Amino acid sequence: MNIVTPAAFPVARPRRLRQSAALRRLVSETSLSAGQLILPLFVRTGRGERRPISSMPGVFQLSVDELLKEAETAVAAGLPGVILFGIPSRKDAKASGAYAPGGIVQQAVRALKRRFPELLVITDVCLCEYMSHGHCGIVRERPGGATIANDPSLVLLARTAVSHAEAGADIIAPSDMMDGRVAAIRSALDRAGFVETPLMAYAAKFASAFYGPFREAAESAPQFGDRRSYQMDPANSDEALREVALDLQEGADIVMVKPALSYLDILWRVKSTFRCPTAAYAVSGEFSMIKAAAEKGWLDERSATLEALLSIRRAGADIILTYSAVEAARWLGG
Ligand code: PBG
Repeated sequence: MNIVTPAAFPVARPRRLRQSAALRRLVSETSLSAGQLILPLFVRTGRGERRPISSMPGVFQLSVDELLKEAETAVAAGLPGVILFGIPSRKDAKASGAYAPGGIVQQAVRALKRRFPELLVITDVCLCEYMSHGHCGIVRERPGGATIANDPSLVLLARTAVSHAEAGADIIAPSDMMDGRVAAIRSALDRAGFVETPLMAYAAKFASAFYGPFREAAESAPQFGDRRSYQMDPANSDEALREVALDLQEGADIVMVKPALSYLDILWRVKSTFRCPTAAYAVSGEFSMIKAAAEKGWLDERSATLEALLSIRRAGADIILTYSAVEAARWLGG
């Protein structure tokens, strides 16, 4: 970009355009509105369940009946969609709960689509919440230690995606970071007749400490090791562009960068390189940091939250997944 500065002080006085709210609004470059925000929701089995997540004030594990109430609030606030994470009643080494036709996410999708046909129901496709070991793929014991087996995991991920689409999911969002999963899911969906179901790929997903509170929420912390053999090294930016390029080639319709705040440079590069629909996930730790500081009276929650979201939009996100979606939508006036 070519920035021309036509004059210097005292001819140039940038403060001229900051004198009133109306003037500031005229020259505002970035918009933030409810229509760009997606609310993540955690669904578990049972009835009347509303279990608080201690590290995420105001966020709950919800049974399907309670989920419907939360969705009603989201719809009333003007949000276009929600993304679902499931907490199954049992976990195993094949992640059976992820692709069971009567699985918790599948039940939730059916209930949501029946009640709110206009609400976009996005499903996170991953295996970690359903695996007894908490990893995002199949674990293979090897002489040198356990590894995550890439290609066999694709079969389970594709099966999960198809079962979500069969339940009525509007958008499928793979978050596992196995190589080739977008292609595997795209072709499985197409073979099952879901050629019109879009994919929002967690394309540049980093191995981040900011997922800590989520793992309490989704009960998905790995039981051994960490996720660094599949999630990206926070040091890498060129590699993020290669990951995004691969996902686009494999058929991703929307690409995501995650987390958001510590990765705004990645977001900027992704958006300016590919110019395609781009999402950012303001993850659990980003939410909890502001909540905790606000509880202590150290930050103003409303202005800090809106400023963080605006910065994510400014960096290039068209869509933001955020636990603050309902509050932000209300603050923004719907
Ligand atoms: C599943 C998944 C995770 C998040 C979204 N999908 C956790 C992880 O990768 O450990 C994190 C979301 C958040 O922290 O808000 N793989």
